[in-house]
Amino acid sequence: MHISGEEIADKLGVSRNSVWKAIKQLTQEGYNIEAVRNKGYSLIVDGDIVSKTGIESYLENKDFFNIEVHNIVSSTNAVAKRYASDNVEEGKVIVALEQSEGRGRFGRAFYSPAETGIYFSLILNPKVENNDIIFLTSLAAVAVCEAIEKLTGEKASIKWVNDIFVSEKKVCGILTEASFSVENNAVEYLVLGIGINIYTPKNGFPSEINKLAGSITSSPQKDVRNKLLAESLNEILKLYTNFDTNLIAKLYKQRSFLIGKEVYVIKKEGEKLAIVIDITDRNELLVKYQDEKTEKLSSGEISLKLN
Ligand code: BTN
Repeated sequence: MHISGEEIADKLGVSRNSVWKAIKQLTQEGYNIEAVRNKGYSLIVDGDIVSKTGIESYLENKDFFNIEVHNIVSSTNAVAKRYASDNVEEGKVIVALEQSEGRGRFGRAFYSPAETGIYFSLILNPKVENNDIIFLTSLAAVAVCEAIEKLTGEKASIKWVNDIFVSEKKVCGILTEASFSVENNAVEYLVLGIGINIYTPKNGFPSEINKLAGSITSSPQKDVRNKLLAESLNEILKLYTNFDTNLIAKLYKQRSFLIGKEVYVIKKEGEKLAIVIDITDRNELLVKYQDEKTEKLSSGEISLKLN
């Protein structure tokens, strides 16, 4: 169905020129709007177009978030950190459809191609004790799991510390970066960087990550990226606003799939086989090595033992 510019202008009480400008902007954001002479405009609504307007339409609290969408940036975390160091308010979200230098943990690259993923970074100014900062990454992991499940119906689980898995494949990585004041060692700002593989790239994932990486859906779905991003932000805000480390630890543990599994703990001196006994209320991984010694790991890396 088409609707004329005149009719839209009358309904909204704005000028025809404003309607034309708004249509132009929406088209630039990627909306597929068909314009037919003497008939008017028609929105083709079956796409998966990421846009500020689209994301905002699913946000529960539009006032907290300030969304900025880019086709491509080097790294959304790098852009967000620049903003944060210029004192941009918390709630700013840098979204990119592609990253040319997407970053992962341990200085690794994060594969961030166009079309198949969504990459975003949220600036926060948490008023929490330094030793509770880890819970911000944990709450983000829980939030993204909730959002994935809500949208796809698939179970999403966490591999300690902050990888999200669906059907035994990593579909999301989180990189948290913080800046601390030299004077009082308090956190000045924190950037939560989240990258989600929505679809599998046409030619598959690169060979280095092919065994590990997966995506949350196999077929294009209307608005999935806007919805997933907004849902993730909605869930993050809920847990952030009522910041409760006990609750976060509980939700995090419920979603962790490592308990009882054999893992390799990656240490400087090499890999050590261990069994995961528990995840503590401080989000440490409690492991038992083959010599029966136990250790609580608070960061670092483990790889799953494949049988
Ligand atoms: C990891 O799995 O090691 C963490 C990956 C984090 C990737 C996200 S994508 C958005 C944000 N920008 C980046 O450069 N990295 C994070």
